[in-house]
Amino acid sequence: MDYQQILNQIKDELSTKQSTGKVASYIPELAKINSEKFGMHLHCINSGHYNFGDNEERFSIQSISKVFTLSRAMSLLGDDLFKRVDVEPSGNPFNSLVQLEYEQGIPRNPFINAGALVISDALISELEHPKKDFLDFIHEITGDSSITINPQVYISEKKHSYRNAALLNLMKSFGNIENDIETVLDFYIYQCSVEMSCKELSTAFMMYANQGKKLADNTQILSPQKVKRINAIMQTCGFYDEAGEFSFRVGLPGKSGVGGGIAAVHPGQYTVTVWSPCLNPKGNSELGMHALEQLTTLTGLSIF
Ligand code: DON
Repeated sequence: MDYQQILNQIKDELSTKQSTGKVASYIPELAKINSEKFGMHLHCINSGHYNFGDNEERFSIQSISKVFTLSRAMSLLGDDLFKRVDVEPSGNPFNSLVQLEYEQGIPRNPFINAGALVISDALISELEHPKKDFLDFIHEITGDSSITINPQVYISEKKHSYRNAALLNLMKSFGNIENDIETVLDFYIYQCSVEMSCKELSTAFMMYANQGKKLADNTQILSPQKVKRINAIMQTCGFYDEAGEFSFRVGLPGKSGVGGGIAAVHPGQYTVTVWSPCLNPKGNSELGMHALEQLTTLTGLSIF
């Protein structure tokens, strides 16, 4: 498969397209980004790297971080974790409060904000230094210890985290949060404020395409069973109330973030990350989704 030729075709097609979406502004620091940025990076298990555009520029990974915290929590805690957070698609926006009231403080899945907050709480209970552990994990799976948070984005989200605080308070009232609201909020916002490039995310996601192993040195990071489960949750819940649409159009497990990134996985084949800051009304990168749809259409390959 000539991936570079296909990526070049996608690049040419994108140059004629204008996004109708908007950069996220509810975290004011994110609104400062140049909305014209676009990067794409495909890392093939067998044949290496293919890319174009701003693929090496770091951006705010935001909710893509939820895949890494879920991976850590599944490794450390086992199946008890799923008594506190379910694995069903929510069909609701990522920051919605309504379902939680009806479902007694048990979030539908680990990728909506409520679910990711429960995962953060579980990691805080388990670890002495959760922030360090989180960065160490990213350094291990990427082989790059320079990856870190953007302090301005971290502070900016802290000043505007009323909805996440509301989610935490509601879940605490149902007994599903063990630690202080402020402590959980702080760790969650920290994980979301990490910056990585498309290239780095494609390397980090390789364990989900490669049976839980790092490609660089074959280290087993996650068991194949955990990888199966994480990919299943990405497929059904990775795009919130647009998970069906993403499956329909792209046909790969993946995870988006309001920084405009999307990382996706073709198990046994490749990882691919796109970055384009303008979001559609569901909070997912509009041109990023389009580029990934083109990739699976032009290659004729998806998991379906
Ligand atoms: O909690 C928030 O709202 C953000 N830190 C992350 C949300 C996000 O990335 C949703 N993804 N599309």
